[in-house]
Amino acid sequence: MSIKKLNLVNETILAPLTDFNDHAFLLLCRKYNASLLFTQKYNVNALINKFQKFEDELKTYKNEHPIFIQLIGNDPQKISRAIELLESFDYDGYDLNLGCNSPNSIKNNIGGSLLRTPAKIGAIINKMVQSTNKFVSAKIRIGFDRYSINALEVAKTIEKSGADFLTIHGRTVEAGYSGKSNLDIIKYVKENIDIPIIGNGDIIDGPTAELMKKYTKCDLLMIGRAAIGYPRIFYEINYYFRNHKSLKCSKNLYKKILIEYYLLLKKVYPEKIQNLSFLKNKITQFIRPKLCRRFFKSAILEQNTILGIENLILNE
Ligand SMILES: Cc1cc2nc3c(=O)[nH]c(=O)nc-3n(C[C@H](O)[C@H](O)[C@H](O)COP(=O)(O)O)c2cc1C
Repeated sequence: MSIKKLNLVNETILAPLTDFNDHAFLLLCRKYNASLLFTQKYNVNALINKFQKFEDELKTYKNEHPIFIQLIGNDPQKISRAIELLESFDYDGYDLNLGCNSPNSIKNNIGGSLLRTPAKIGAIINKMVQSTNKFVSAKIRIGFDRYSINALEVAKTIEKSGADFLTIHGRTVEAGYSGKSNLDIIKYVKENIDIPIIGNGDIIDGPTAELMKKYTKCDLLMIGRAAIGYPRIFYEINYYFRNHKSLKCSKNLYKKILIEYYLLLKKVYPEKIQNLSFLKNKITQFIRPKLCRRFFKSAILEQNTILGIENLILNE
């Protein structure tokens, strides 16, 4: 299926970020011009065995579209079953995680561990494509370790198996987040396959987004860590593409973004937000201390009531 059918409004995409991509954050990223959203990864075994537990958080909101749900697993039948359960949830597509480097993923041979067995990846993607009429994509790293860089082989397998596009994070699984994202390999894969490529890794502002785009010639750009607590990054990158100027964010402006996030949390999670530790966790993982007044984070953590936190945020 052509990616054009997604009608993306620009090239900047929010990465899947476990624990961070709650619906308030997703909605805010769309508002600040992320053209496509990915949920965090969902383990297909957990989804199948405890579907009811996830039902609430899996609901999508009208303003989130286009949005893909990311799945992690290695059994084509189970992934197919998970897709069957998810079909009514209105996601625009399904993404397969082929990059997770957590010890658990390696132990269970899911995520980045699967890069060692491209044929297995092909079987999974094939089954995903057979299981839905929606988009199917995958997110890979460039190889399992520095001795087994096989991004092109994996990308070709994914393409041949019917996926609509592919994200490449330019590091190996072994590297985790160390070193730099390898743009040469993203470029090499882009030159040698036909499905659209999303370049990922180390985009933090307009100039780094432009470098990824111009150097690798990738079709789209994915932003992860730079969006955490800072959904305005998408607006800033798109502004840079148009005007070749970098925007700055004042503390006053950041306060407005924080308030927007808090109000969305209240709207989207009216019950959970009554739980003090949930709220503290969400707010403290969101805030960028450098953009807040001194000791703002500790002040949030010291609060004993929801109202105390609300007052701090609204009057920051
Ligand atoms: C906190 C955190 C959670 C992440 N969760 C996921 C995930 O659920 N699925 C996934 O494919 N990648 C995940 N990633 C990797 C990012 O999607 C992205 O590939 C990586 O951070 C590199 O991009 P960046 O340099 O823009 O951050 C995660 C990264 C971070 C920092």
